[in-house]
Amino acid sequence: MDIMEVIEKRRSIRKYKGDPIPEEKLNKILEAARIAPSWSNMQCWRYVVVKDENTKKALADALPSRNPVKKAFTQAPIIIVGCADPERSGYIGSQRIGDKQWHILDLGISMQQLVLAATNEGLGTCWVCWFSEKGVKDILKIPENIDVVALTPLGYPDEEPKAKRRKSVEEIVYYGKYGASE
Ligand SMILES: Cc1cc2nc3c(=O)[nH]c(=O)nc-3n(C[C@H](O)[C@H](O)[C@H](O)COP(=O)(O)O)c2cc1C
Repeated sequence: MDIMEVIEKRRSIRKYKGDPIPEEKLNKILEAARIAPSWSNMQCWRYVVVKDENTKKALADALPSRNPVKKAFTQAPIIIVGCADPERSGYIGSQRIGDKQWHILDLGISMQQLVLAATNEGLGTCWVCWFSEKGVKDILKIPENIDVVALTPLGYPDEEPKAKRRKSVEEIVYYGKYGASE
């Protein structure tokens, strides 16, 4: 698919078929995450791929009951957990640059590459950031110093959601200075 086609086709998928994902598809998707750009090429991201049914159930329990993606965690054959090390981003040598959470940006870029590669393989994903971080850390034995940034189910979609409304280009793009239209 052309890149714009992939970007336009992507949706948040919250209903999945249970069919397994071929290993070569999974590897391609993880490769897309691996080669993303990052602060000083420090590649602060780490991913946990979860296939075990009991672990997926436990992760579903780490989501609030009102999170609309909760049920998908037991339907999808895989859950990918995106982690990042805050100490491996935002530094030049030992000097901290600014106070922004650069590791979250790094993880976001890498994980979106994963999400788009999944779309290109006919697979569904859904960004999930509303979860109990302590819950996820306990389940997966994630060290104290590592942040859990986002999760996604990964599997064949069992729904075809319509595109959600987006703001127009005029509403989000200024020219020359902030707030100015062309
Ligand atoms: C950072 C981030 C966090 C999100 N967290 C959740 C979540 O916890 N649960 C959920 O169902 N959807 C979550 N979403 C999905 C958004 O609701 C979805 O992207 C948005 O409504 C637009 O729909 P679309 O992705 O189908 O275009 C999240 C998306 C992003 C980018």
